[in-house]
Amino acid sequence: MLKKLITALAVAAAITAPALAQNVTYTKDIAPVFKEFCSECHGEGTPLFKEFKKQEEKFTKEKTGPRMDSYPLLITHIAYPETGAIQRRLDDGKASPGSKPGNMYRYLGGDDQERQKNLALFKAWLGEGGWNLNRWAARGDVPAVTKEQLDKLKLAY
Ligand code: HEC
Repeated sequence: MLKKLITALAVAAAITAPALAQNVTYTKDIAPVFKEFCSECHGEGTPLFKEFKKQEEKFTKEKTGPRMDSYPLLITHIAYPETGAIQRRLDDGKASPGSKPGNMYRYLGGDDQERQKNLALFKAWLGEGGWNLNRWAARGDVPAVTKEQLDKLKLAY
């Protein structure tokens, strides 16, 4: 009985460990998650952001988002110029009461446990204090990102 419990705990720890690890990298951790859950709509053959914006409505109807399937492209939706886009879209809305999950959160996994695990992985990749939902320039309720917030970004390759 005790042995079973210990085994179960060890398995649980092994499952959550990658998400908590400090050395999360794009190549090792983020790219595989992106490939599995995002590349269908943001992968090969999808338009670059500028092209996407020209025909946003058409592409959105076709379930085609802007292309982000490489390190440099993904970074443009985190740091600049689409500052905070990944953070706003993937956030689970739990940080502040009354806020909703971002509209890409649901794609992070098949169930909430998997979504939470992959969200934790993205958060760890950005680095402690790096998960800011702010934009480059303030718009509506969303304030502008600060230099201090940008300094927190780790984004290891
Ligand atoms: C079924 C298709 C589909 C899947 C799967 C999908 N997306 Fe999207 N995504 C879209 C479409 C279409 C848009 C553009 C419409 C909109 O803004 O909601 C978009 C927009 C975005 C944006 C906003 C880009 C910007 O700078 O404005 C981000 C960030 C994003 N997706 C990230 C992701 C991530 C990360 C995943 C995987 C966890 C993912 N998406 C999975 C279709 C998808």
